[in-house]
Amino acid sequence: MPIIKTENLTKIYSGNIKAVSDLNIEIEEAEIYGLLGKNGAGKTTTIKMLTTAIEPTSGNAKVAGYDLLKDREKIRNIIGVVPQDLTTDADLKGIENLRMIAAFYDIPKSVAESRINDLLNIVDLTDWGNKYVSQYSGGMRKRLELICGLVNAPKILFLDEPTLGLDVNTRAKMWKYIRDIQKELGVTIILTSHYLEEVDELANRISIIDHGKILVTGTPDELKSSLKGDIITMQFSGSDEAEAARYYPNALYSSISGEDKVRIKVENSDVELPKILSYLTQKGISPLTINVKKPSLDEVFLEYTGSSIDEDIGPEQFRRMMQNVRRLR
Ligand SMILES: Nc1ncnc2c1ncn2[C@@H]1O[C@H](COP(=O)(O)OP(=O)(O)OP(=O)(O)O)[C@@H](O)[C@H]1O
Ligand SMILES: [Mg+2]
Repeated sequence: MPIIKTENLTKIYSGNIKAVSDLNIEIEEAEIYGLLGKNGAGKTTTIKMLTTAIEPTSGNAKVAGYDLLKDREKIRNIIGVVPQDLTTDADLKGIENLRMIAAFYDIPKSVAESRINDLLNIVDLTDWGNKYVSQYSGGMRKRLELICGLVNAPKILFLDEPTLGLDVNTRAKMWKYIRDIQKELGVTIILTSHYLEEVDELANRISIIDHGKILVTGTPDELKSSLKGDIITMQFSGSDEAEAARYYPNALYSSISGEDKVRIKVENSDVELPKILSYLTQKGISPLTINVKKPSLDEVFLEYTGSSIDEDIGPEQFRRMMQNVRRLR
């Protein structure tokens, strides 16, 4: 039985903004489930509904057997949430932040202390528990935020953009900690992200969400193989040549980037590449470079949403990112 099952979960904000529309997802126990979508896709709204921070406009969900509309208090006790924005107090020590959460949940002191030590240990912050959060690096603070969501020993952990604003190396470290947490505590993890590599790396199943709707769900491999075909990228010395290559007749689709680069999708590159080359030779054209790739999650995203995930970072997203970067410094 799934640990979370939503039924037409919908949120319409005032001003008739349909942030989430008829969401139907099933999340299995102990999996890492990724909700992938662009800025404004409805990820945070989904998390907020499932964690009882806001009420759905219509629809419902079962969370660990509880009814989302009726058993809100019970749900709160068995979930952990790490919101998109930072919540720890920089003027307190790491351990003080964790103790405050333990007190909020009425966890007996002895239980709390040993649990807090275990959690600090999982994210390699044992030596830092007694230091002020203001002294932490951005990555350390995010690790502390991560375990803040685990103080009440939840069954389900919600992570909204767990690595937003971190540099590439620090993000990769966070992935390791998230995996360790899942393995050691057996918790179900639902995370949102707009980093393709992140969900590809972490999630055993992914849903792509766009304009409040789920477009597709599957394992990263399922999504990639659902696309079929290979991507051939060629660079030419000029835009005329690129334009000519673009109209290769057996292409499933093709696109041009940076004027002289062509991406052509074909069913099977082993068969098509020699044909493309002879097609180009006939036209007196030869590419400067050729690269053949099996579809990545980037292609999957492009195919299902119609635009690349990096294409349109809006001003709001940019503002939030900068805010996080500043805070993390
Ligand atoms: N409190 C609110 N009132 C009105 N509209 C809102 C509110 N919160 C979010 N929205 C709108 O709902 C839509 C979905 O927003 P949401 O924050 O859920 O997206 P998201 O996928 O988390 O985006 P991001 O990647 O920027 O965090 C957006 O159009 C947003 O502007
Ligand atoms: Mg969000």
